[in-house]
Amino acid sequence: MKITAQELRDKYLKFFQSKGHTIIPSASLVPENDPSVLFTTAGMHPLVPYLLGVSHPGGTRLTNVQKCIRTGDIDEVGDNTHLTFFEMLGNWSLGDYFKSDAIKWSFEFLTFSEYLGIPLERLAVSVFAGDNDAPRDEEAAEIWKMLGLKPGRIAYLPKENNWWIAGNAGPCGPDTEMFYWIDDGTPAPENFQETEKDPRWVEIWNDVFMQFEKMPDGKLVPLKKKNVDTGMGLDRTLTVLNGQRSVYDTELFKPMWDVLALDQEVMSNDEIKRARIVLDHVRASVFMVNDGVQPSNKDRGYVLRRLLRRALVMGRLLNLKYHWLEALIGKVVAGYAQAYPDLVDKANQTFDVILAEQKKFEATLEKGLKEFEKLIKKSSELIDGKTAFDLYQTYGFPWELTKELAEQSGQKIDKSQFEAEFKKHQELSRTASAGQFKGGLASHSEKIVRLHTATHLMNAALRQVLGGQVWQKGSNITEERTRFDFTHGQKMTEAEKSAVEALVNGWIERDFTVKKEIMTLDEARKLNAIGVFGEKYADTVSIYTVFDPKTGEVISREFCGGPHVEHTGVIGKFKIQKEEASSAGVRRIKAVVE
Ligand code: ALA
Repeated sequence: MKITAQELRDKYLKFFQSKGHTIIPSASLVPENDPSVLFTTAGMHPLVPYLLGVSHPGGTRLTNVQKCIRTGDIDEVGDNTHLTFFEMLGNWSLGDYFKSDAIKWSFEFLTFSEYLGIPLERLAVSVFAGDNDAPRDEEAAEIWKMLGLKPGRIAYLPKENNWWIAGNAGPCGPDTEMFYWIDDGTPAPENFQETEKDPRWVEIWNDVFMQFEKMPDGKLVPLKKKNVDTGMGLDRTLTVLNGQRSVYDTELFKPMWDVLALDQEVMSNDEIKRARIVLDHVRASVFMVNDGVQPSNKDRGYVLRRLLRRALVMGRLLNLKYHWLEALIGKVVAGYAQAYPDLVDKANQTFDVILAEQKKFEATLEKGLKEFEKLIKKSSELIDGKTAFDLYQTYGFPWELTKELAEQSGQKIDKSQFEAEFKKHQELSRTASAGQFKGGLASHSEKIVRLHTATHLMNAALRQVLGGQVWQKGSNITEERTRFDFTHGQKMTEAEKSAVEALVNGWIERDFTVKKEIMTLDEARKLNAIGVFGEKYADTVSIYTVFDPKTGEVISREFCGGPHVEHTGVIGKFKIQKEEASSAGVRRIKAVVE
């Protein structure tokens, strides 16, 4: 092996550190306070507020390795390059350097012998071809040429290839993408414009020049400060550097293959694809559960359930032996223990959650598969959509799974019938779309920002009314409400709830000031800042303080990335809608501002 995953992570971070970047930890796969997407899909995602102008405690140059989940291409998972979980190596300029440094450093990291040492013959790049929004990116092309890339290795491609945005709105701009010609004995073609679709050109890195914010109405507004957002796929880069053909061949999956004890030499392509799906889905599930996702019939929980159930069905079709799932989970935890130590800390819980879902599903899978066999025998080429839908209700088969099983036996499900059934079940039609990401990134709406500050006030009020033993366990804010979990042993009384509301509304009426400060973690601790965001930044943290500008009295001081209102008077009237048990010793409040 030429390079290991850990060596690649370390090299990348050290390289950008040597160029003045602060190393920041990976954020959770579950976006904080961002109802617009289900999972973190790229390294830039948790940084959106900073790309839009909020100052980051780490400064204007950042680098990290970010865990990501993308389920948009789930049908391609199992080919040579697609995965649902992957790590993205990234570097950011927040209004600092732009095109020339970004490209120069990408070139240096890719080609210099002390870094990746990729020969120029194997490299090609694409740049934006230009349209009404931004000109043809001759500037980027010139920089590449100046660095030594042959003009033939530069392709000019349209927006659908060389423009990056996450979802429908948010920071965006043209990009330049870097491709590696994999080693199959054929020399890389000289003309990239004509060969860019050849699958032997594998995209490994993308430098985005973010200079616009796309508004929800589709308008592009130039950003006050231009940013750079880059993303290099760890699995893909590892694959090509080590001369492998597929992302499933790297050392990251090797221990998992060993558990399956399958001989790929004698497997059909379909069987290999199924096995790859098992590996991908189990790995993704371990990381999701580790970040707090639980299987359910809604949103993130549904995505997790679907991945796990699909892996279980594939496992069955492959005739995997008992305990294989348990063994695979163990391999993921062990394989990633160095890069993500919290996988080990939370391993027991991860095993429990995944194995409980397995138990639940396997009991019905057996019966369901038998029913499915019957269904197939009875049906012609087209399976009745309603009967297929019943499989979901009775046996918990996600509908995609039934479709897949049908396709494997050369049959189709009547989609329109199926969909009609779906519509009747509103809950289910919601979950159906959960497999896709909802559009739009955190264009933090004003309502969410108000709720965000109200949540800090509520946290402070709860600690005053119930006592300092109250600690935040989690929070989630949507356009409609804030949901807040906190440690407390018993149900709150009506009087306690009213007291919390009165305190919060009093602070809102007195129009207190909200101030953001960047300080060291030690300073923040000395000031008794509270909150669950402390672990996020290694050295410096951002702290939001709410205080009375007349007396200087501090009401709340929390670790938080923001955004928040500037003064509490704009929040509106705060109201607790519900107070209930969340888990043992943890209560949950849902509250609104009107
Ligand atoms: N955000 C860019 C991407 O994900 C770097 O490709």
